[in-house]
Amino acid sequence: MLCRAISLLAALVAVILLFELGRTARTSAARLQPYSYLPMLKPGAILEAHNKYRLWSGVPNLTWSDELAASAQNWSDKCIFEHSYGQYGENLVLGTFNTMGEILYGMSLWTIEMCWYDFDAPGFNETTGHYTQVVWKDTQMVGCGYRTCKSVSGFSGQCDGCGVVTCHYSPPGNYLSATLFRLNVLKPIKSWCPGAT
Ligand SMILES: *[C@@H]1O[C@H](CO)[C@@H](O)[C@H](O)[C@H]1NC(C)=O
Ligand SMILES: *[C@@H]1O[C@H](CO)[C@@H](O)[C@H](O)[C@H]1NC(C)=O
Ligand SMILES: *[C@@H]1O[C@H](CO)[C@@H](O)[C@H](O)[C@H]1NC(C)=O
Repeated sequence: MLCRAISLLAALVAVILLFELGRTARTSAARLQPYSYLPMLKPGAILEAHNKYRLWSGVPNLTWSDELAASAQNWSDKCIFEHSYGQYGENLVLGTFNTMGEILYGMSLWTIEMCWYDFDAPGFNETTGHYTQVVWKDTQMVGCGYRTCKSVSGFSGQCDGCGVVTCHYSPPGNYLSATLFRLNVLKPIKSWCPGAT
């Protein structure tokens, strides 16, 4: 019970990602209906973007949950770049996403945080909190949502057509306990840091 209460406080600081509004981005944006749901979230690709790193971390795969996806979509729909402080673990990334590939790039900013994680001093850290949720051993399911927005509350920059990718995780990770971090965030068998051998 205590652990659960503490976990809710351990929300992650989200990553801001804005792709340059270059010619390509504008062109492909124009092909999409503005401010509508984009039928581009591919559960298989999202699972792979999590399970590849979980495999390298020696922890079991996540499975897709439609219930978590509905809850995540519900949050993305609000166009707010802040944590929802709900019952699930939560990772967010803000950006102008036109393809599943761009969303996967946004998610790679979560997992690359592993390179800054100190396995000798395990614990929650705003710099590494997305990564620790992705690979948290006891987490079993994920579901994500996305929509484009006209403006996003909590983000003051130019954001016409950007949006928030939300992923919800159950059971949640990132309990504020060094012991639970030691048991759930395992040193990877294979490092994915740039330049690692
Ligand atoms: C785990 O996920 C990976 C990547 O999605 C997949 O290749 C692999 O077959 C999965 N393993 C099991 C046991 O389901
Ligand atoms: C979506 O959010 C509304 C509140 O804005 C809430 O009443 C509803 O239960 C939520 N649905 C899901 C699936 O999370
Ligand atoms: C916490 O973040 C700092 C960088 O801000 C990093 O040097 C340190 O290793 C991190 N610790 C953990 C446990 O992630």
